[in-house]
Amino acid sequence: MYTAPRKHLSKDIFNSAIAAYAISAANELGVLGELQKYNCVDINDFANNNNLDVSSLKAIINVLCSFEICRPAEVDNCFYQGSVFEDIYNNQGFFLWLTRGYGELMQKLASITVKSNRINNYIPQDGRYIALASRQQGKLMVDTYFETALFEVSFNCVVDLGCGSGERLIELAKKCPQLKGIGIDISSKAVELAKSLVSEANCQDRITIFRDDMRNLQPKKEFFDVDTIFSFFSGHDMWPKENCVSILRNFRDIFPNANRFLLCDTYSSGLIPSSQIPIFTLGFETIHAVMGQHIPSLEEWMNLFPESKWRCVNQYYVEVPFCTIFDLRAE
Ligand SMILES: C[S@@+](CC[C@H](N)C(=O)[O-])C[C@H]1O[C@@H](n2cnc3c(N)ncnc32)[C@H](O)[C@@H]1O
Repeated sequence: MYTAPRKHLSKDIFNSAIAAYAISAANELGVLGELQKYNCVDINDFANNNNLDVSSLKAIINVLCSFEICRPAEVDNCFYQGSVFEDIYNNQGFFLWLTRGYGELMQKLASITVKSNRINNYIPQDGRYIALASRQQGKLMVDTYFETALFEVSFNCVVDLGCGSGERLIELAKKCPQLKGIGIDISSKAVELAKSLVSEANCQDRITIFRDDMRNLQPKKEFFDVDTIFSFFSGHDMWPKENCVSILRNFRDIFPNANRFLLCDTYSSGLIPSSQIPIFTLGFETIHAVMGQHIPSLEEWMNLFPESKWRCVNQYYVEVPFCTIFDLRAE
């Protein structure tokens, strides 16, 4: 139902856009991490230690101060956490996702909307930053719920479809010394990132990363032992419905020994436009609409499962708005 959005003046909207970039930059440069750790940052020291231009850093900090994300300390050039720091810190990955993962798409919103420009790879996105942002937000909002769900049933060999940075596989491999894992992602930048993080974690003998499209997987000997599939924030890529049904059915053949599939995805909110929109939802739904990607509602997902050869036996809460983990079992 439509509820009239709150009135925002142009100055608020303009300044919020600047703040989104400043938050993303402060995240990427490690300033938010420093403030979280020490509750105080000396920007001269921080700039020196990290080879940063101090006046650019100061400008970023000034924007953060304008939104009470940080505040000046008594000592010159030092800043404390501000009154809204914690909220921003806990949501910083969403800003990275927006400004770095889809920054170019947002910049080209008008030209991408022109029909004649919608040909051959017209969607600019940066798979590395999408993966990094998802990793950051996943750690804060998803992973404890995921692990609670996963550990309810035993597993030895898992596949992560749309694995992004591979972080979930790496964390599981650290916790389960016998575990074998496979990560599959369509983005070459995400695959490159995942491979390097897997090597850094010294897990390359147990985790294999493949570049592939999960919508079109072919059998591989490595897939035979997989007993558990999971997929985070890429399930909507399998839609429209007929495609999704046949892809999910295909997983039964591709992973013949997989009995469980934890499918976590963001579903359509039905909220836009409204005054009730939480963080992420407006960006997620706008960007996918522009990309021509249908975002199914919760009801659409639930109506699809009976046709998919996967039975939904449970749903688990996660903190990302309009998002759930479907616990699917092979029929
Ligand atoms: C939002 S990111 C999430 C990454 C990771 N699952 C996480 O939660 O941190 C979605 C990932 O799915 C990948 N992806 C999207 N469509 C895919 C497809 N058809 N096949 C394989 N990977 C896909 C993207 O490249 C991206 O890395």
